[in-house]
Amino acid sequence: MADTDGNIDSHDYYLDTPQTDTPLPLKGCNSLDWGMKNRLANIFDPKTGRTVMLAVDHGYFMGPTTGLERIDITINPLLPYANTLMCTRGILRSTIPPGFNKGVVLRASGGPSILKELSDERIAVDMEDAIRLNVAAVAVQVFIGGEFETQSVHNMTSLVDAGNRYGMPVLGVTAVGKQMVRDAKYMRLATRMCAELGCTYVKTYYVEKDFDTVAAACPVPIVIAGGKKQPELDALTMAYNAIQQGAAGVDMGRNIFQSDAPAAMIQAVFRVVHENMPPKEAFEYYETLKNTK
Ligand code: 5RP
Repeated sequence: MADTDGNIDSHDYYLDTPQTDTPLPLKGCNSLDWGMKNRLANIFDPKTGRTVMLAVDHGYFMGPTTGLERIDITINPLLPYANTLMCTRGILRSTIPPGFNKGVVLRASGGPSILKELSDERIAVDMEDAIRLNVAAVAVQVFIGGEFETQSVHNMTSLVDAGNRYGMPVLGVTAVGKQMVRDAKYMRLATRMCAELGCTYVKTYYVEKDFDTVAAACPVPIVIAGGKKQPELDALTMAYNAIQQGAAGVDMGRNIFQSDAPAAMIQAVFRVVHENMPPKEAFEYYETLKNTK
């Protein structure tokens, strides 16, 4: 029976208390719809507004690169320490336990292998399949200055349109070709183009000089790729500097899974990103974890 008395007698309206409205602490994201924000909250910690994305999608053009030969053995044990996993749908379906309930960022572009011209990519995932896989975002490579620049920008804008239709965030991945200079001027151009053309957030590379201008000029969150393997202290220093200069997190692969102690490394990166832990302290933490069995 309906509770008609309770309805008539209800009086707990907290008239002196304005309704709480808790925004996501992510720049440029306030106008997004609830579904898209909810997906972003599975990537970025809603308390810190930052993320540690564990990137293992390299096989989509590189094949089984070092550290990713057996993802079930080397990567699955790291999942508890990441905010988000970035991978392909092949790895997701074949290897990642469905009990993994954090955000997945799905690689959604592809085509050429390392043997060919890399910028000649196409969209490689239908939005319907991304939704079927219940992912938190899709990622597309954008080759500004590359031979097939316009094609890759078109891949991005098509995914943005499909993403907007269904509330799916799109991560624009700025890819730097072999001949291109990796400096702040280039990164400002590439990241700003991704944001202007509709990406929800953007992945770029850290540059030593003026990275703060890259972050400032991009009106949506920026995360940095780790790039080639470096000594652990250097990778932690890069992550720290990027965060202090305005990055909202890292999308790190090789510097984690090619580390001497991947579980220790991802935990150290996590503290740099979410707790602003200075690099030397984070390195000591890494060493302690590494030497604790
Ligand atoms: C591959 C990617 C990777 O996800 C990205 O480069 C991050 O990995 P790493 O830290 O190893 O550079 O987009 O195309």
